[in-house]
Amino acid sequence: MMYPERGTSAHINLSHLLHNIEVFKKLHPGPIMAVVKADAYGHGLARVTDSLKSCDALAVATIEEAMQLRSFIPDKRILLLEGVFNAEELELAIEQRFDLVVHQFYQLDVLLKSSNAKPLLNVWLKVDTGMHRLGFDWADYPQVLDQLKQVKMIKEIRLMAHFAQSDQVDHQQTQLQLQRHQILQQHDFECSFANTGAVLNGLSCAGEWARVGLGLYGISPLADRFAADFDLRPVMQLSAKLISIKTVKQAETVGYSAQFTCLQDMLVGIVGMGYADGYPWSEHHSHVVIRGHQAPIIGRISMDMMAIDLSAVKQPLIGEPVHIWGSEQAVEQVAKELHTIPYTLVCGITGRVKFHVIDSL
Ligand SMILES: Cc1ncc(COP(=O)(O)O)c(C=O)c1O
Repeated sequence: MMYPERGTSAHINLSHLLHNIEVFKKLHPGPIMAVVKADAYGHGLARVTDSLKSCDALAVATIEEAMQLRSFIPDKRILLLEGVFNAEELELAIEQRFDLVVHQFYQLDVLLKSSNAKPLLNVWLKVDTGMHRLGFDWADYPQVLDQLKQVKMIKEIRLMAHFAQSDQVDHQQTQLQLQRHQILQQHDFECSFANTGAVLNGLSCAGEWARVGLGLYGISPLADRFAADFDLRPVMQLSAKLISIKTVKQAETVGYSAQFTCLQDMLVGIVGMGYADGYPWSEHHSHVVIRGHQAPIIGRISMDMMAIDLSAVKQPLIGEPVHIWGSEQAVEQVAKELHTIPYTLVCGITGRVKFHVIDSL
């Protein structure tokens, strides 16, 4: 008898990543900054960094992420998207040649108080053009810009902003942000405004540094268009295995809280993937794919398992691969069905899932 393995795995297809970079280079006439925060959106920073060498810069959120990235890639420009929080981090950033976002007065204060006078630091002045998350207020940024120009340790200044809803091109807020971005571009500095949604919607400006995250991993953030519509290919293939099959009688229930009741006798499969692997517990239900057939997820997601309806699968076998998301079904579709966003799904994959790297097509 052949015994199955749990086999819960994520395959990371680097040739898809390389392909996606080329797609973005065609879509955006300007430098591309690959956003690799949160362990490259759950894909694994160490796994993907080498493939991102043709990008012009890389961006992360925390100084720890930046340090890890620097150990993989000694020469590339690395931008700290939240900047530094104190003088020690500033010294580390200078030593490691990190570019810094400056988005609040306390960061300006750290820069002004530094005794470091060698012009080594590149800063990206973040302006709040309407997102209202990070960035200096629209009214304050000219004064901050003047102050930054006086800081001796600063070598280069760039201007940066972030779209609140790059998926809504015609929205009043997007239009206001676009107007403000045009004004920012009139300064004599390079700029960075666009994220994946902005590039896919044609909102990026020629020559700006597009900061592309989700799209590089072959996923679309847009509500109405999936990545495949832009010829982007999914980098992560998430799969698990059928670890149990059983017939459950009509009127019996499946799983915790007896949430699913069988309307007839039915074949139920148990898949080795639960919320401790990163598949979210949700009131909503999606489905998985087996041999090209959709199998609805039924009942509650457990910590280590999920139950599926095997009615559509002929003679299912223990140990069969079950596709959760990737080429067989877009993660955007799963996100839609679970009433969430694809970002949370890929970022949520836990260390229990075994990763494998695929280098070629
Ligand atoms: C400041 C900033 N720029 C760029 C990005 C990349 O966005 P996306 O993954 O939608 O391309 C993010 C992601 O959250 C971000 O916070």
